[in-house]
Amino acid sequence: PAAVVVAIDGPSGTGKSSTSKAVAAQLGLSYLDTGAQYRAMTWWMITNGIDVTDAAAVATAAAKPVLVSGTDPAHPTITVDGADASGPIRTQEVTSRVSAVSAVPEVRTLVTELQRSIAAAAERGIVVEGRDIGTTVLPDADLKIFLTASPEARAARRSGELTGKDAAGLAATREALIKRDAADSGRKTSPLAKAGDAVEVDTTELTLQQVIECVVTLVEEKR
Ligand code: C5P
Repeated sequence: PAAVVVAIDGPSGTGKSSTSKAVAAQLGLSYLDTGAQYRAMTWWMITNGIDVTDAAAVATAAAKPVLVSGTDPAHPTITVDGADASGPIRTQEVTSRVSAVSAVPEVRTLVTELQRSIAAAAERGIVVEGRDIGTTVLPDADLKIFLTASPEARAARRSGELTGKDAAGLAATREALIKRDAADSGRKTSPLAKAGDAVEVDTTELTLQQVIECVVTLVEEKR
């Protein structure tokens, strides 16, 4: 079959990553985690002493780090200047600062170009997950999915990933998530948004397996 390009967008904690990786693996497609690229950019800024709240400084520095994404869904990787950044990009510090960095237009231009070149090179097709893939990065994608879930479900999934399920941790996770989504949805350049032609899937009452099956079926209908 011809290469199929699938865009999966939505806020955090909706199961985007788990779904995207599984769908790509099941269908033999490449996989790109665009959030990891913004996280890697943020990690590099922090490591190099750039004040991430200074948009001009971030814009100037953005061209310096070399990001390379590995697109095997069974083993996705990201390196920054040749160093594996897969661990450091998941820290609380990076998570709390990434929205400031990803809102800077110069950062988005660079990262978007990178994403388009990776998608174009994926001969068998690719699943690309993020916030603006269907709207901005790959507006001609063969299939666009927009995943949603209630704030409670999203916080519960995220804190399950992070710490376990104590009530204080859950409340803090929920607040941080809502704040990050508000920043990502409210920014001027390429905000988190559902494309007009995206299929919306509310995952609140669905198991991961059900979401995966739903998306696989939609992809197969396009092939
Ligand atoms: O998906 P993840 O939570 O790893 O994304 C981290 C951050 O990267 C998001 O909160 C958002 O600020 C940014 N991002 C973005 N556009 C994308 C993917 C992620 O702005 N396509």
